[in-house]
Amino acid sequence: MSITVTPASNAVGAFVSGVDIAAGLSDKQFTEMRQAFVDHGVIFLRDQDITPAQHIEFAERWSEININRFFQPVEGYPNVAEVRKDPDQVHNIGSNWHTDHSYDDEPAMGSILYARQVPDVGGDTMFAGQCAAYQALSDGLKDTLGRMWAHHSSRHAFGALAYLQPTETAQVGKRIGNPELATQDSRHPVIIKHPLSGRPALYVNGDFTVHFDGWTQDESEPLLQQLYAHASRPEFTYRFKWEKGSMAIWDNRAVQHNAINDYQGESRLMHRITLEGESLEPFVVS
Ligand code: SIN
Repeated sequence: MSITVTPASNAVGAFVSGVDIAAGLSDKQFTEMRQAFVDHGVIFLRDQDITPAQHIEFAERWSEININRFFQPVEGYPNVAEVRKDPDQVHNIGSNWHTDHSYDDEPAMGSILYARQVPDVGGDTMFAGQCAAYQALSDGLKDTLGRMWAHHSSRHAFGALAYLQPTETAQVGKRIGNPELATQDSRHPVIIKHPLSGRPALYVNGDFTVHFDGWTQDESEPLLQQLYAHASRPEFTYRFKWEKGSMAIWDNRAVQHNAINDYQGESRLMHRITLEGESLEPFVVS
């Protein structure tokens, strides 16, 4: 049995149907699904009914699991992170455009997010295609950025200081922890060669990029802000509406994502498994 792949938008995302993860995927189905992930940056599945153990088994077909150091794990499953918002909680996790774990030397390949409880309305996640964002830059900026690197860090986002500032980390409180583990800093090309597709992609994000290599933070800020605004232009995005049992599998090297916080007084509970990645190479124009 083949899977069916239906693009969600021109720049990013595709719906995959004909797959029942609980029943298991043939090698052919898995290969087709992986190709859809490479081609579209994020793939969406509906109506999956899986246990945490089946979520883990499925994730292990993609890559080794990367255990998130900061999120609360699901009880009994240390490699599954809980992304939760209860009715009395005002702030959510992930409500800025970002890519997961860019502060690591080998940033996570992607994440598999599974919806256990969602509000009737709201709580969508937006995705922005960073290959399309790169293509829309002028030739001059492509050339300049193609020779630049940027520093990324977990310290300001998840370290002790983050709990004293009005940051997302402080706002979501006990749902994020282990500030002593926020010691990761990394340096990546601003334009990466996507490890699977070979395509160029813009690779800076507002949560974790701190400055360009050789530039101060003050010098970097205006260009970074311009790139963040460019990277999330509507024509590069798709807004996914969750249902209980939906799954999104995204590639952090090809997309950014943003969890919309518009469901006050409602519950939303997701399980996330993060997939190990690799070090990133610059895209070299031949
Ligand atoms: C995240 O991984 O940033 C959370 C995404 C979501 O909850 O939609």
